[in-house]
Amino acid sequence: MIRIGMLTSGGDCQALNAAMRGVAKTLYNSNEEVEIYGFLNGYQGLIHGRFRLLTYDDFSGILTKGGTFLGSSRTPFKMIEVIEEDGIDKVAAMKQTYYKLQLDCLVILGGNGTHKTANLLSEQGLNVVTLPKTIDNDLWGTDMTFGFQSAVDIATDCIDMIHTTAASHGRIFIVEIMGHKVGWLPLNAGMAGGADIILIPEIPYDIDKVAEKIKERHDRGASFTILAVAEGAISKKDAKLSKKELAKKQAESPYPSVSYEIAAKLTKKTGYDVRVTVPGHTQRGGAPCPYDRVFASRLGSEAGKLILKKEFGFMVGYKNREIVKVPLKDVAGKLKMVDPDASIIKEAKMLGISFGD
Ligand code: F6P
Repeated sequence: MIRIGMLTSGGDCQALNAAMRGVAKTLYNSNEEVEIYGFLNGYQGLIHGRFRLLTYDDFSGILTKGGTFLGSSRTPFKMIEVIEEDGIDKVAAMKQTYYKLQLDCLVILGGNGTHKTANLLSEQGLNVVTLPKTIDNDLWGTDMTFGFQSAVDIATDCIDMIHTTAASHGRIFIVEIMGHKVGWLPLNAGMAGGADIILIPEIPYDIDKVAEKIKERHDRGASFTILAVAEGAISKKDAKLSKKELAKKQAESPYPSVSYEIAAKLTKKTGYDVRVTVPGHTQRGGAPCPYDRVFASRLGSEAGKLILKKEFGFMVGYKNREIVKVPLKDVAGKLKMVDPDASIIKEAKMLGISFGD
């Protein structure tokens, strides 16, 4: 008998259900007797012992469904070892649930924060296997995370739609794309949607360079310009501020987000009408794209294989077109950022895309 617990933690994304189905089907189709417990709303379910004993039917018909049928929540890693007002020792509580249910392994689906806690639980002696989810594609140790491609498709659709209206009105359009710390999503959606300017956190921008690019385009006869701007795009000036100074500036900003600040500055500098579109959480919503369905199913299946082989303490990742197992301690606490010198950035620049640098 193999008894596993499963949970999805952090911001949701597409193909979480597909990945869990991949694990479950692989285990159910093995010669082992299998019991799968689903913890509700991420680590909260493990902490408070909220779970459901799942059956084969729970994993049927979910391949194409977005979201996560187990629910998710954010449980910040920095608070995981802190005893808060409720007096609960969260790490001890998670271990207690694990041992009480006599689990052989925990399957944890999540992004960066989730992996820090997963690694901690593994260090504390629990058997853990993880799967890399996030639309941000910023997880260390894997070239791709599931959810990313679906989000690229949605953000690209948004830019495509803006293109037609931008052309009719001769305006400047900013599409704000998710990515607070890393710019994989705005970079890829921006390139796919034919954005003229892409601003990402890894390449601080100079607003004068951005305005110059717009003027240059319009002097050449272009009637509109489209910018793909990451939520975390940062000016060269702000990049010099300390973390504390930046947080203060952002808290006091009269703008709802960075795109509105950029829009106001560009209107002033260019004299053109600037409009902002924020697709927001639609980028994490809806059905996973076919690529993510296949990708998440493959990763899930390989996670099932690791469990059957009793190989624990790994994230199932994807490197150089191969599925690989990556030690959790190598993944936890590291971000995979866009390298400003990467060839994709050079190619984008050769295509005439400005990064405002
Ligand atoms: O981590 C995924 C992500 O969608 C980021 O791209 C975004 O910055 C953040 O989550 C939004 O978080 P929340 O859903 O908590 O508002």
